[in-house]
Amino acid sequence: MPVDLERRGPVGLVTLNRPEALNALSPEMLDQLAARLDEVEADPGLRVVVLTGAGKAFCAGADIRHMGQAGPVEARAFAALGHRLADRIAGFPHPVICAVNGYALGGGCELALACDIRIASTAARMGQPEVNLGVLPGWGGTQRLARVTSPGMARELIYTARPVGAEEALRIGLVNAVHPPEALLDAALAMAGEIAERPAGAVSAAKEMLNLALGADMPAALARERDAFALAFATEDQKEGMAAFLERRPARFTGR
Ligand code: CAA
Repeated sequence: MPVDLERRGPVGLVTLNRPEALNALSPEMLDQLAARLDEVEADPGLRVVVLTGAGKAFCAGADIRHMGQAGPVEARAFAALGHRLADRIAGFPHPVICAVNGYALGGGCELALACDIRIASTAARMGQPEVNLGVLPGWGGTQRLARVTSPGMARELIYTARPVGAEEALRIGLVNAVHPPEALLDAALAMAGEIAERPAGAVSAAKEMLNLALGADMPAALARERDAFALAFATEDQKEGMAAFLERRPARFTGR
């Protein structure tokens, strides 16, 4: 299964499981993840989610193979799909903890940003490398990265496409804690267990209020992000950036 769900007491452990593509998110993966969240929500015994990835990545982003062929209309639809999922996580009635076990890049970092809390393994590498592909973050990264870190760091990381390691991610507030790889899942499950012991209604209401404080103007901004992402797919640089990634060669950008 590309996305697994395991019940660990009151915690739903959701694992992206397409390690051969570093858990890159195809439309099928996005649908599966949404279906797993529906299963968690329908189960009254589950009160917290831990989201992680199988293998050496949490998620290397949106599926570049899928996007390589896309024009602006398809790209806008793919951005909308990613937004729906990120909004589902952000608005999920229970807290979602992201255990960042390795790469969390592009759409993978954006999924992590939509979670309530991120904790990382020392092997994590996180960032928004989209400009290297001739596009921009299209699943909420232009809005959430600045809210989670700082406006200046978000600009630096998005403009330069530079990934950060776990210690820097901790310093800039992108993750709350760093653990050795073998201890990450236990740490995430322990935090989830602690939250699950609290009254679920109070935690859920607190989440809703925190979302209001941090994201009141988000829907309009995300609509603009979808359009900007789609427009990037009308450029030569997008075609070149994605072809270069798939052909494993450096891109030659022209600004067109
Ligand atoms: N989409 C599709 N396939 C991907 C992928 C992606 N985002 N990331 C990795 N893969 C695939 C590779 O093509 C490769 O497949 P094959 O073995 O069939 O060739 C496999 O996963 C393993 O990847 P690598 O051989 O590249 O592994 P590596 O260890 O050498 O490098 C990496 C790891 C640095 C993460 C590198 O894979 C990479 O840079 N990936 C792309 C990261 C990226 O740019 N993400 C942003 C995507 S755009 C986006 O997400 C837009 C948005 O905002 C919605």
